[in-house]
Amino acid sequence: MQSYSVIWDCCCDHGLLGMSLLKRKRAGEVIFVDVIAKQMEKLEKTLTQSCPRDEYSWRVYCEDLKNIVVPNRDSQLFIIAGVGSHQAIDFINSLCASTPSASLDFLICSVHGNYSVRESLIKKGFKLKGERIIFENNRFYEGIYVSKSAGEKIVNTGSIMWDWSDPDHQEYWQRVVGHYRQKAKTDPIQCQPIVQSYETLLTSISNF
Ligand SMILES: C[S@@+](CC[C@H](N)C(=O)[O-])C[C@H]1O[C@@H](n2cnc3c(N)ncnc32)[C@H](O)[C@@H]1O
Repeated sequence: MQSYSVIWDCCCDHGLLGMSLLKRKRAGEVIFVDVIAKQMEKLEKTLTQSCPRDEYSWRVYCEDLKNIVVPNRDSQLFIIAGVGSHQAIDFINSLCASTPSASLDFLICSVHGNYSVRESLIKKGFKLKGERIIFENNRFYEGIYVSKSAGEKIVNTGSIMWDWSDPDHQEYWQRVVGHYRQKAKTDPIQCQPIVQSYETLLTSISNF
């Protein structure tokens, strides 16, 4: 990941992700945002102790992410992890709308529904800087890193993240397709094309 002027740890909760990036000096400043006041007070205390202000630059906002007006600064990365796909899409839309002229990078790791997150990113003109399948505590996540300035085409089913020789990835494909096949029983118009996209992805790979 490149270095940024500002990294926003959105919906940060304990702020572990942002804190680790702050300590590794991946940005000039890290801004933490969450709506839970008690959690943000606690985080402020932790940061004051472990990332002293004379050495690190950080801010804590107790705020609904949808109310954030993004300042037009040089290079900014927004990390949105641990929320559902609808919420992630709403947040991307409101952050982009708050500063239409700025170029914002996003690292999205939503808890499910990556297909719709990707569709939304494609529609907004984002390009892929990286993507990864993460398997943790028997749950799968997709890390999707995007920018408008440069990168590859985003594919709605994922592309470079798949390693078909990895049994975890094979299992992830089965789980995703199983989920959409189930949904297609009650909503075939919406979900059958998604099932087909994942099946096409598989048939395009010879060694699976
Ligand atoms: C499951 S935690 C994710 C924590 C962390 N990002 C991670 O991936 O480990 C979800 C967090 O989103 C926050 N959240 C939910 N809606 C929000 C909103 N509209 N604005 C800011 N934070 C929000 C919740 O308060 C909660 O702390």
